[in-house]
Amino acid sequence: MGQKIKFIHLSDIHLNPATKKNINGMGINTLHKFNALLNDIRKRALHPDFFIISGDLIHEGTVEDYRQLHVLLKEQEKAFGVPFYVCLGNHDDREAFWAGYKNVPGKKEAYYYSETVNDLKLIFLDSKYGISEEEGRISGEQLSWLKEQLVVTPPGGTILILHHPLYCEPLDFMKYSILQNTDELVPVIEGKDILAILSGHIHFNATFKTAGIMNFVIAAASYGIDCSNHRIHKFMDDSTYGLVRIVDREVMVEQWSLPASKNVKFELSL
Ligand SMILES: [Fe+2]
Repeated sequence: MGQKIKFIHLSDIHLNPATKKNINGMGINTLHKFNALLNDIRKRALHPDFFIISGDLIHEGTVEDYRQLHVLLKEQEKAFGVPFYVCLGNHDDREAFWAGYKNVPGKKEAYYYSETVNDLKLIFLDSKYGISEEEGRISGEQLSWLKEQLVVTPPGGTILILHHPLYCEPLDFMKYSILQNTDELVPVIEGKDILAILSGHIHFNATFKTAGIMNFVIAAASYGIDCSNHRIHKFMDDSTYGLVRIVDREVMVEQWSLPASKNVKFELSL
């Protein structure tokens, strides 16, 4: 038996530890949802090697929100004894993130980086685009950086993490809110040693292939969205995390939802 690794994939935690927002007037306490998921992970004795949170960390918040998020995640790192890696989503504020979470005031640049854990390379991209746009885009600068990152990869392979799901035909009804330049990303990742692409954003789970690479879109930690009626998106009480297991480069994702009412709290007509 070779490489064996497991980690937790959380997405769209939509926290506001300082500003305490009531998102869409739904009355969902996203911090309670987040803590409930972490408690469940503890209760199930999953012992992950690390955590990732794929964006929408803070819901349109402030520097203080990010500062408190940093404290909160540091506490969890200590409790679990493993690192938490994060990337940004469309509802995040880059400048507030750099100032509050990374303690670099005044910086506005995209946040992308790579980490290697036990021969597995994790590449985090920043697909936030514009200020308040729903859709995502990977900048040319990041695509060039990614190209270099994929030249040499460790024997355990690479996982790509970003907030916005890539485009696929069955997600066409969401085409204006997912990644807008999948066509520019594909030539960079095609044929490279990428085991899987992990994303979030749409608040429901989806699995598909891009250029032969598996995409696992995890449902949200904070609340779910039922998009089965393409014209009316129903925001509901729901909360999910993913347990990602990799054994000898084979990836399996188990999505785990906590009991929730699934009551519709908000409807968005399109
Ligand atoms: Fe999002």
